[in-house]
Amino acid sequence: INVDWDAVTAEKGGFAHFMLKEIHEQPKAYRDTMLGRIDESGRRIVLPDLHLTEDKIRSINNVHIVACGTAYHAGLVGGSVIERLVRIPVMYDVASEYRYRSPLITPETLVIVVSQSGETADTLAALREAQANGAHVLAITNVVGSSIARDADDVINTLAGPEIAVASTKAYTSQLIAFYLFSLYLAQVRGTQTADEIAHIIAAMHALPEQVESMLANVDAIKAYAEHIAKHEDLFFIGRGLDYAVAMEGSLKLKEISYIHSEAYAAGELKHGTLALIEEGIPVIALATQESVLEKTVSNIKEVKARGADVLALTHEEHVAGLLKSVDQAFAIPKTLPILTPALSVVPLQLLAYYASLARGNDVDKPRNLAKSVTVE
Ligand code: AGP
Repeated sequence: INVDWDAVTAEKGGFAHFMLKEIHEQPKAYRDTMLGRIDESGRRIVLPDLHLTEDKIRSINNVHIVACGTAYHAGLVGGSVIERLVRIPVMYDVASEYRYRSPLITPETLVIVVSQSGETADTLAALREAQANGAHVLAITNVVGSSIARDADDVINTLAGPEIAVASTKAYTSQLIAFYLFSLYLAQVRGTQTADEIAHIIAAMHALPEQVESMLANVDAIKAYAEHIAKHEDLFFIGRGLDYAVAMEGSLKLKEISYIHSEAYAAGELKHGTLALIEEGIPVIALATQESVLEKTVSNIKEVKARGADVLALTHEEHVAGLLKSVDQAFAIPKTLPILTPALSVVPLQLLAYYASLARGNDVDKPRNLAKSVTVE
């Protein structure tokens, strides 16, 4: 018998590309990253390996989140969650800027660096800069024993397993889970959320893996939409609040592997310049999951629609019918708490980038000009 087999095909486990395999591994990555970090009652976060003492946690008066690329985008969501749940001011920066701008660090600053590989040169240099200025540095990484994991004062490992595709997917969503856990832990120690509020968020986190599975079982509409946008050269993502942070990640993913130019805009900023680029037929993907700003997002959608944009909305089922009055298509994102929604709403955007790259005949797993881990400046 002659069997066609090679090690790489075997590693892809039946998927056409590592990226698709890794997208499908997300439910497991969520579960693994939560495992052992929530106590049996489901009401408390336990992070026993943390060196940050409770006294130190109570003394923190500002947080800096520093990372590159997709890891930075995870930090944008994570920082916003810390601000909401713990009410500590958070500053964000990309590592290549942070390291050179003499950031204002005090012993009360907690610096969180985020890196899948744990080897990104700029992120490692930012970590050293922060430590030299007396900050406690917590790293969220996916590689145990990596340079960043070794040098940081504290580490929360994401348990996403090896990520091979250059386009990061399961590492990003596992970073979100790590941020949710850490934010809840801070809230627990500082008493900024009640035990019931914490339990309520934990319960919703436990439901996320199955919700991702339900989205992954139903990809036909996103695949068809990807084939539609594959013919375009420019595209916009818009959103407000956490939807904006996810829009930035969706835009990066699409650029990185499909080579379609796209920009993510805070929906309310459009009229300050970018609206001039909206013309007949240009695709606009509007993330509209955050209920507190939904009405505002809808009015921004109407602004682009009035200029001829072809709008796809990502929203919750209950808003689909209403939004369809203003958009061309709408896909439903399963319902969870607003702060947890990025862990779901990013999934169709990952699939969109994947199928658009495929439709354009690109090398999905190894896009041009890019390396998986950027260990040089
Ligand atoms: C993500 O799809 C990118 N390949 C890239 O932005 C990546 O997230 C960035 O280079 C940071 O890498 P790290 O997480 O390993 O530090």
